[in-house]
Amino acid sequence: MATQRHPGIWEATSATLGIAHCPAKAPIVSACAPRTSRSRTARDLICRPWTFDGLFDDFDPTGGDMEPIVVQPVGTVVGGRVEAFDDDWNVENALIRLDGTRFEPEALAGLDAFSHLEVVFQFHLVDPSSINTSARHPRGNPDWPKVGIFAQRGKNRPNLLGVSRCRVVAVDGLDLHVRGLDAIDGSPVLDIKPYMAEFGPQGETVQPEWATELMRTYY
Ligand SMILES: C[S@@+](CC[C@H](N)C(=O)[O-])C[C@H]1O[C@@H](n2cnc3c(N)ncnc32)[C@H](O)[C@@H]1O
Repeated sequence: MATQRHPGIWEATSATLGIAHCPAKAPIVSACAPRTSRSRTARDLICRPWTFDGLFDDFDPTGGDMEPIVVQPVGTVVGGRVEAFDDDWNVENALIRLDGTRFEPEALAGLDAFSHLEVVFQFHLVDPSSINTSARHPRGNPDWPKVGIFAQRGKNRPNLLGVSRCRVVAVDGLDLHVRGLDAIDGSPVLDIKPYMAEFGPQGETVQPEWATELMRTYY
């Protein structure tokens, strides 16, 4: 069993690491261990309400000397695509349902005056053992150059965070209807922001040819 060490921080022993026994509403907790300890005896367990037994069996959350940050989802993606595959996202309709235990509809007041949103979400179905911290060919395509994980937007990335822009369709109580959100059904939503043109890039944007090719059929 994992035990609560501090509010929101759950601890597992090496014996239990790899089996997430966390309460349904547990926040997402980044793993943390003393820098000197690179064993599987983690100080803190990555604890996610959507986690399944055994998911962390091959995952070593130790390493790194940064303190963990605890975040709690503000809501969940409901509907839309149910499987993680790429392309044709523009046709997908879904909603973001705010956590009614923390928020009132007022939290979304005024959002319907904006055409687009920025959404931060978690790739909750990515197996942590598949996280890439170095470089790879985008989508595993050898025709495209091997580039660093921070030079691409693949989902198998440290912290499993996605940032997406999508269209606001309607606001209805705690439900925010959206189109073109490339997060699948059940994705935990960590933040929602209105898109303002002025927060877009300053000056001309430049990108390599492989990125243009990859994105050609994405939306
Ligand atoms: C390439 S990533 C880009 C996401 C976001 N636009 C970004 O740039 O951070 C999007 C892909 O992640 C996958 N995906 C979406 N939600 C996911 C989830 N909750 N768990 C695992 N994979 C997910 C889908 O296959 C989708 O095509």
